[in-house]
Amino acid sequence: MRTLCVPVNQEGIIEAVRILKEGGLVAFPTETVYGLGGNALNEQAIEAIFEAKGRPGDNPLIAHVSGIEEAKRYGEWNDLAQSLAEAFWPGPLTLIVARKPDMPARISAGLSTLALRAPSHPAAQALIKACGFPIAAPSANRSGCPSPTTAKHVLNDMDGVIPLILDGGPSEVGLESTVLDATGEVPLILRPGAVTPEMVAMTVGECKVAESVMRQLRDDESAPSPGMRHKHYAPKARMTLVEGETGKVREALTLMAARLENAWVFALDGVMDGVEEVKVKNLGRDAKEAAHNLFYLLRQADEEGVTRIFAQALPKDGLGLAVMNRLARAAGFDIRQAEDVLQFQEKS
Ligand code: TXA
Ligand code: MG
Repeated sequence: MRTLCVPVNQEGIIEAVRILKEGGLVAFPTETVYGLGGNALNEQAIEAIFEAKGRPGDNPLIAHVSGIEEAKRYGEWNDLAQSLAEAFWPGPLTLIVARKPDMPARISAGLSTLALRAPSHPAAQALIKACGFPIAAPSANRSGCPSPTTAKHVLNDMDGVIPLILDGGPSEVGLESTVLDATGEVPLILRPGAVTPEMVAMTVGECKVAESVMRQLRDDESAPSPGMRHKHYAPKARMTLVEGETGKVREALTLMAARLENAWVFALDGVMDGVEEVKVKNLGRDAKEAAHNLFYLLRQADEEGVTRIFAQALPKDGLGLAVMNRLARAAGFDIRQAEDVLQFQEKS
């Protein structure tokens, strides 16, 4: 199959809608990352998504809708979902509610719940509205690769597998949406994203974060969100995070990376100033910029054959939690204290 990559304009949208209506797949931009879309009401299209991604069959998909009215048709709506959707839709928030029979079970990988999101990107909105059905869309990467934040990333993973990619430029947020379980009394964040626990708590009074967000699940443990079980966001390079006071982090990162060939250091702007002996990649000035840059840098590292990455750990408040969740997973939870690294060096 030939894969066309076309700009997001009227012609591109018309072609995308044609393919989606025929049950085919199209990659399209959203404000978070690129999605790999298919008709959410068509079992064969859903099947094709799993196949194109090489996605494990037990990992459910998000149904993308235009807004609250459409969401109510497919999910059992409640007051919590209503308040959160009013506050954050359209935008980077996915709400888990009970699934109605109108939505095929296959999209939820057999779960009784359904993930719903109204994206704010105009191209995504245009597609959903023109199709008249919800669009099932996971991130448009091959399973196990970082989510794509440019059309080129999608092409790298999906060339020859899908007919069309709509190119809308780099994704604004750069990390996938916040996944929030809205089936209980208290909102529970299963995957952190740009809608932060602080923002949710401001809106509805409280917000819990699944404890598994910052640690690896044991093999015998059940995952609150199946996606957390699978090894996500993994670059080819082995990755280590370093936590601590900035000066010590700089020292530790330098020490670890300087001896190695093909090693990169990821750090916030300014942290590695004056250090010449290591190759530094700038994460940006804050967590927001780091979110925007992270997946791009991980893919760049793969392309350039980097074998080792040492990254500064970020504070876990606000959007920092989402960035750290992705960093920690990319590092297989190898997180070290700068002080320990330096002390060990002194002893040896
Ligand atoms: O920003 C995003 O969410 C992007 C764009 C394209 O919208 N999509 C995305 O989809 O990241 P995906 O499939 O890569 O991630 C969806 C996550 C997975 O971790 C999945 O396990 C979880 O949402 N999920 C989906 N349905 C669920 C459900 N019913 N219960 C619990 N978790 C669910
Ligand atoms: Mg994904």
